[in-house]
Amino acid sequence: MGFLEVKNLKVHYPIRGGFFNTIQDYIKAVDGVDLDIEQGKTYGLIGESGSGKSTIGKAIVGLEKITDGHILYEGKDVTSRSYRKKINYNQDVQMIFQDSMSSLDPKKRILDIIAEPIRNFEKLTPKEEKEKVLKLLDIVGLNESAIYKYPFEFSGGQRQRIGVARAVACNPRLIVADEPVSALDLSVQAQVLNYMKLIQQEFNLSYIFISHDLGVVRHMCDYIYIMHNGKFVETGNRDELYSDPQHIYTKRLIAAIPQIEPDRRKELREARQAIEKKFDEQKNVYYDENGSVYDLSKYKDSHYVAARKGEI
Ligand SMILES: Nc1ncnc2c1ncn2[C@@H]1O[C@H](COP(=O)(O)OP(=O)(O)OP(=O)(O)O)[C@@H](O)[C@H]1O
Ligand SMILES: [Mg+2]
Repeated sequence: MGFLEVKNLKVHYPIRGGFFNTIQDYIKAVDGVDLDIEQGKTYGLIGESGSGKSTIGKAIVGLEKITDGHILYEGKDVTSRSYRKKINYNQDVQMIFQDSMSSLDPKKRILDIIAEPIRNFEKLTPKEEKEKVLKLLDIVGLNESAIYKYPFEFSGGQRQRIGVARAVACNPRLIVADEPVSALDLSVQAQVLNYMKLIQQEFNLSYIFISHDLGVVRHMCDYIYIMHNGKFVETGNRDELYSDPQHIYTKRLIAAIPQIEPDRRKELREARQAIEKKFDEQKNVYYDENGSVYDLSKYKDSHYVAARKGEI
């Protein structure tokens, strides 16, 4: 059992309408998911746009109201905001976002941006604070001159590294990274991911790594959670999931990973088309009559798949 457990988490957004602007229905952005986060591990949350990934991340850090379910931190229920404050939860669990330009205050220098979370939680002298910021910048490969600059003076990859430094400034145990490299070029993506890995080793951090791309997270994650329509369709450790995918949606995501093998292009395209065909044929094995995802059933060891009863 890990230090953070998410139990049957649901986040439903009301849809309002009509003359009195009453609630007409709900968008079930997250509809009953469980996670068990251990120290030092990385959990990939993968799924297409709108599947509910960011909503899970925001609910965990407390940016989104929970409709139902619980979040337990060291066995204690932190679903309520006041309790989170009492036990330093907001310090221990941090989030980084995809768009570094809007998540870093453009009017502040890097020194203040990184020092801000430290100021909220620790009392340091200006000299100690500067030393700490310099050390954090060094860990993400930026030099001293960075501290008096503003966010616009950096490249996208550098800004994301600043975001990572800011998130680790108050020694969190978990960082929820929401598409942290999706806006970057491939070569820069690899560099930012490498820094994230180094930081993980240095601080024994856990990551919840959100992405729509199974290719990007392959080398980053210990466990993978594939998400569709607010629920997990398949979960398991990385090797099980990539080598033996079961759910038709996972197979489709794997087939969509771009390959750099020009001579196999035709073969891969055909494989993708075959998966699409299968997706249509086997839909009712993996989705019920309303198009909802089934509950997970155990397939092997830590590998779970959402399918009709008796199919797995
Ligand atoms: N504040 C909100 N009010 C109403 N609906 C919302 C709100 N935030 C998200 N949603 C809806 O909830 C669903 C899940 O959204 P979410 O942002 O979690 O998806 P995502 O998997 O992160 O997608 P993306 O890959 O595009 O970031 C979507 O249908 C979205 O339209
Ligand atoms: Mg999102």
